[in-house]
Amino acid sequence: MELRDALRTTGAVRAFLADPVADDVLFRVLDDARFGPSGGNRQAWHVIVLKDVAVREALGALYLDAWHDYVGHVLEGLVPFSPLASDDERARAARRRGDAVALSRPDGFAETIASAPALLAVSVEIGALAATDRDLGRYQVVGGASVYPFIWNVLLAAHEYGLGGVMTTVATRREPEVARLLHLPATHALAAVVALGYPQARPTKLTRKRVDEFVTVDRYDGDPFTGQ
Ligand SMILES: Cc1cc2nc3c(=O)[nH]c(=O)nc-3n(C[C@H](O)[C@H](O)[C@H](O)COP(=O)(O)O)c2cc1C
Repeated sequence: MELRDALRTTGAVRAFLADPVADDVLFRVLDDARFGPSGGNRQAWHVIVLKDVAVREALGALYLDAWHDYVGHVLEGLVPFSPLASDDERARAARRRGDAVALSRPDGFAETIASAPALLAVSVEIGALAATDRDLGRYQVVGGASVYPFIWNVLLAAHEYGLGGVMTTVATRREPEVARLLHLPATHALAAVVALGYPQARPTKLTRKRVDEFVTVDRYDGDPFTGQ
């Protein structure tokens, strides 16, 4: 497909047809995705293709458990897991867990992620990240840039092969349990769980900000960049 179309239409897909994703297709997706960039070109990611039903279900249970945390934040009107959330906000979100569990639907994505046609756990070697902002005394964001472009490439490549999917991160809330389940070495962090499959429906018009809403000239508070 055209690159511009791919960029503009690769939205999150969380509902899949029952068709399996053949290993050779998944291999081709990963074979294309591996050309993503990383700090120092260290390519410190590792992908685990989850096939074992028991492992998938165990991971799915951890995902759902963490998802309830997420929904608790949403119910409180918070940005889920914001690094700047106060202790009070976090406590309020935690108190909504029961409500979040009550909202669970058996056919929801979080409830059924274990049966996604293809399920990948992506980890990254922490010591290989180029975390150039590590000494700033604020929350660090740069390290993740050594793994998430690769994961995004997986989703773009999947689109080319007729697949859809979503990168998910809530399972990182349960990283110790996931690490035990998947035998992740202590040197690795869980970066994402990626679900892929042939979409039941594909989004065509994504809700995204306009360029002039987030691009300015010369300064953060400069004029909006309109391209005119
Ligand atoms: C870093 C990151 C973490 C995400 N984590 C989750 C997640 O844990 N669960 C989930 O269902 N979607 C997750 N998403 C998908 C986002 O919700 C989705 O990309 C966004 O809402 C845009 O949705 P759209 O493409 O349908 O417009 C994540 C996306 C990113 C980039």
